[in-house]
Amino acid sequence: MARKPFIAGNWKMNMTVESGKQLIAELKPLVKEAKCDIALCVPAILIPAMAKAVKGSKIKLGAQNVHFAENGAYTGEISAEMLKDYGVKYVIIGHSERRQYFGETDETVNKRTLTALKNGITPIVCVGETLSERENDETEKVLSRQLEIGLKDVEDVTKLVIAYEPVWAIGTGKTATDEQAQETIKFIRKKLGKLFGVKNANKVKIQYGGSMNAKNCKGLMAQPDIDGGLIGGASLKLDFATIVNYDK
Ligand code: 13P
Repeated sequence: MARKPFIAGNWKMNMTVESGKQLIAELKPLVKEAKCDIALCVPAILIPAMAKAVKGSKIKLGAQNVHFAENGAYTGEISAEMLKDYGVKYVIIGHSERRQYFGETDETVNKRTLTALKNGITPIVCVGETLSERENDETEKVLSRQLEIGLKDVEDVTKLVIAYEPVWAIGTGKTATDEQAQETIKFIRKKLGKLFGVKNANKVKIQYGGSMNAKNCKGLMAQPDIDGGLIGGASLKLDFATIVNYDK
């Protein structure tokens, strides 16, 4: 069965209750006819208000992180149960900004992924190489390590989404070419095949992320192994609707 395309926005540390509500109200009619699955991953504190805002639309709600413990003495953290309270369906795990600034490792990515899966929240597990890793020809080695450790002990890989986000393309306006993105995502699928079996790997949705916008989305989405996008900057504007409607 063909994989259903999935476009998700990552608001990162942007928007407020008011601006978020307004953007969602404007997006709603524009995404009504979309054929893909849609999510917005919003800052944790905006989840309650945005949960109300997306009601009655095709937009599902996502978070940007989840703690790996069910509950307990983890000041400042948010549990899967808390996310579920507000109907959160997706959670971004291991975004490169968290790896870069907040000490996220492949091991903590793995723990968070297992917790999200256990709680029925779909993890969007982010992988990707830095510029120096690409220049040193280490892309495949880095991605292999991120997948081997990050997805260790996952029982059903088809229940998660992978986002391939080359770090050098994030927020830089420097998108991977269609061919670069396709080639690398094909490698990721091959690696998933080795880890979880080809049949399962062929069911996993793999998104591209990194300066994806209203202009370049069509070309990226036309690639056989690219099943969607994880959109940063362009998800803060109505351009997000254009991306969601990439096939129109
Ligand atoms: P930009 O689309 O702003 O480059 O961000 C991509 C990203 O990091 C999505 O998670």
